[in-house]
Amino acid sequence: MPLPQGSVITENDIVLLIGKDRRTFIRTVSAGQRFECHLGFVEYDTLIGTRYGEQVSTNIGHKLFVLAPNMDDIILHLQREGQIIYPKDLGYIALKLGIRPGVQVIEAGTGSGALTVMLALLVGDEGHVYSYERRRKMQERAITNVRRMGLLDRVTFHQRDIARGFDERDVHALFLDVRTPWDYLPAAREALRGGGFLGAIVPTMNQVLQLIEPLYNGPWFLLEIEELMLRQYKTIPARVRPDDQMVGHTGFLIFARAVEREEATGWEPLDVVKYNRREDDAAQDTGGEP
Ligand SMILES: C[S@@+](CC[C@H](N)C(=O)[O-])C[C@H]1O[C@@H](n2cnc3c(N)ncnc32)[C@H](O)[C@@H]1O
Repeated sequence: MPLPQGSVITENDIVLLIGKDRRTFIRTVSAGQRFECHLGFVEYDTLIGTRYGEQVSTNIGHKLFVLAPNMDDIILHLQREGQIIYPKDLGYIALKLGIRPGVQVIEAGTGSGALTVMLALLVGDEGHVYSYERRRKMQERAITNVRRMGLLDRVTFHQRDIARGFDERDVHALFLDVRTPWDYLPAAREALRGGGFLGAIVPTMNQVLQLIEPLYNGPWFLLEIEELMLRQYKTIPARVRPDDQMVGHTGFLIFARAVEREEATGWEPLDVVKYNRREDDAAQDTGGEP
């Protein structure tokens, strides 16, 4: 994988170049070629062998820092068309779906591949991502993005409508980023193993309401509806305060666990605090009495 591993820049590393004006560029270090931007150019050969964090000068004397990019930088620099899942949601989705090295996970639709890249990084060489997309153009873009990250071996791309179901069975997790996720719940349940993790993201509360009904009445348990809000701050030491602008809304996140049952249990959903209550918290509530 070309994400930098060491402290010294080597050929084919993916690097982040950034100047005084904070414009950032993600590039692959290619011997014999040059990086060009509004501040001039730098021969990649002069980068090879220097240490990350050092400054380099362009041909017209502008300074640039060369850094190893993190996932946040990479996702925001992907070639994209249409909406991608933002980094603030991506990290939490991965956490909630229990994504770790070795797991098999399905996602639909692939879109520009932001989630695909994130999942492929996390599942490692032993895990695998199965990604479904009905539009060829979108899929091609995602493949380009995943290839640039050197993660192609970890992803199987299916070009088709998920109305035709999923090929895989017994998967650990499945994520739906499509307009009508409720239409695909039976297929999702068939693909997931018992206890498997389902997740979905939708932009409107109307969609949440349509999705929650079949989840509540079907072979699903531990339903959660969540939304993450991220507020960024100005970092000038004398005037630390919230940024004037923020991304007000990305999407609502819905999670559930796949279970075996013919009919709804009739168990009323608990509020979020009670869901997350640990065994010893419950014991405290009763003064330690069973
Ligand atoms: C919002 S984009 C997905 C973005 C992606 N998760 C990302 O982070 O880059 C939704 C994608 O789902 C695809 N899609 C919608 N319904 C689909 C279906 N029934 N089967 C397969 N793909 C579908 C669309 O073509 C679109 O590319």
